[in-house]
Amino acid sequence: METLNGLKRTHYCGDLRDKNIGEEVVLMGWVQKKRNLGGLVFVDLRDRSGICQIIFDTDVNAEAFAKAEKLGSEFVIAVTGKVSERSSKNPNMPTGDIEIVATELKILNKSETPPIYIKDDDNVSEELRLKYRYLDLRKPSMQNKLMIRSRVANIVRNYLSSNNFFEIETPFLIKPTPEGARDYLVPSRVNEGKFYALPQSPQLFKQLLMVSGMDRYFQIVKCFRDEDLRADRQPEFTQIDCEMSFVEQEDVMSIMEKMVQVMFKEILDVDVTLPLPVMPYAEAMERYGSDKPDTRFGYELTNISDIVANCGFGVFANATKDGMSVRGINIEGKSDAISKKQLSKIEDHAKTYKAKGLAWMRIGANREVTSPIAKFFTEEEMTAILDRMNAKEGDLLLFVADKNSVVFDALGQVRLEVARRLDLLNNSEYKMLWVTEFPLFEEDEETGRMIAKHHPFTSPLDEDLERLDGDDKASLRAKAYDIVINGYEVGGGSVRIFNADVQRKMFSALGMSEEESQEKFGFLLDAFKYGTPPHAGIAFGLDRLTMILTGTNNIKDVIAFPKNQSAVCPMTNAPAVADDAQLEELSIKVDLADKE
Ligand code: AMO
Ligand code: AMP
Repeated sequence: METLNGLKRTHYCGDLRDKNIGEEVVLMGWVQKKRNLGGLVFVDLRDRSGICQIIFDTDVNAEAFAKAEKLGSEFVIAVTGKVSERSSKNPNMPTGDIEIVATELKILNKSETPPIYIKDDDNVSEELRLKYRYLDLRKPSMQNKLMIRSRVANIVRNYLSSNNFFEIETPFLIKPTPEGARDYLVPSRVNEGKFYALPQSPQLFKQLLMVSGMDRYFQIVKCFRDEDLRADRQPEFTQIDCEMSFVEQEDVMSIMEKMVQVMFKEILDVDVTLPLPVMPYAEAMERYGSDKPDTRFGYELTNISDIVANCGFGVFANATKDGMSVRGINIEGKSDAISKKQLSKIEDHAKTYKAKGLAWMRIGANREVTSPIAKFFTEEEMTAILDRMNAKEGDLLLFVADKNSVVFDALGQVRLEVARRLDLLNNSEYKMLWVTEFPLFEEDEETGRMIAKHHPFTSPLDEDLERLDGDDKASLRAKAYDIVINGYEVGGGSVRIFNADVQRKMFSALGMSEEESQEKFGFLLDAFKYGTPPHAGIAFGLDRLTMILTGTNNIKDVIAFPKNQSAVCPMTNAPAVADDAQLEELSIKVDLADKE
């Protein structure tokens, strides 16, 4: 193998054009493809910028030609040569007008046959791609996504710095911050038997920086959450975390939506119209069954509970009690586009979101209804349903009857599933909005206890503040806001409680005793004694933003070294068993006896 030995690269492969014709260049990269045509060897040379064709001609340099004959896929080479006009131009390649006539070749490294092809449509399993991630990342599409991610981070830094935000780092080894997920714990060797938590977010530190008078803070920061993974969730992910003093909700929303506007303009040349629409949580649930509505398409929910309250279909009639409802969506004009089989798949989808079924009606000529449940309704009831649903010939109506939470969740998901099946989701269309007035509390699914919907440092609406210690917690609303793009919760934040008494009341509303709140959050309550400014903030999911900007639905595509669905890194095999000496030093005994 040869070394560079003073040789300097002059250009990136993908940057050469016909204006470079006649220049002497030095290129370095990987062999994408080699073709041997008698006295000529053609090599497609690839680097981060693209591909350039190289010709080794035995008449130009017999030694270089002989070496080129031995090249294999993914060999690393340095080529010196002259940019020439191609005789047969390739309009599909940015460098297709030129080629390099090589005068010298250095083989810097060989490569075994790679286990995955370095091309975009390779059809390899995701697990194999993750195992050989360093090869997967050689693909132009993957490099492009990481390049866009880097530009997003740059735009954020420029925008926030020029708006007087300071970038300040906060610790990773901390006391737990409750953001609703489980913590990753780190044992302390020096403090035996004690653990740090990795931050689920820098929430409390950024608030303390406001107490410190930093006024405006941001950080592009890793957060760690041990939760069930999904297509848009990773156990470690990156936030664009911000906090501002002496501001209210509208101030944060206005400065942050401008950042999104700049980002979409610079990266996609898409104009975002400001201010973004604002929709209260209750309206988002009523209309879309979701607090992160995808507003690229319609199919809004309609409540028909009052019409079916006394109907002959028990499932519907029984679902009109308190906290329950019957709601439907109208898949307008698409009855023929959804077969019986597809309908049954969509019903299965609804059932994974706890619906007990998905009732349907197909609307024919003269609004004639085909449906297994049509027989249960009087003519009057049926007419009222069709009118309320705005039903016309060719429509398909879908209904769920259940607890409100199930109806919203299941129908909200059915809405998305139908849109996916009908191919209505265009990834180059961007629908953004703010969702506001979130409930302050929600019921924890596992324990049934009231927990903070956003986090316990979020301020109630002024008009709801005095009911904080009352009984009707479910109706309290928060000064919290999420920014939603194409059905993704891209960011979320809130106005904070900045008064120790209110914060204490909040902890107590969450079922924490005085001692417990002092033990867990005493440092915050103490800080609040010494002049805390009103403050508010937000955190964007950098990964999710980049997903949208790169048009992917898979968060792993925008992270260099992601974990798989089991929170494992298939390349390094983390997590791993710790060795006995390490465990002993930490006084930790691993006992798997009680585990399956
Ligand atoms: P929140 O918990 O809403 O707020 O998180 C903010 C944003 O982070 C992204 N996000 C994730 N992205 C990928 N994988 C995950 N597991 C994951 N979890 C969250 C989402 C989300 O909108 N401290 C508060 C913010 C604040 O109040 O200022 C917080 O962390 O895009
Ligand atoms: P069944 O009487 O159980 O055969 O149900 C008749 C139709 O009503 C089927 O299409 C079911 O999918 C649907 N269905 C059953 N339970 C519900 C429910 N809770 N909400 C909506 N549709 C339902």
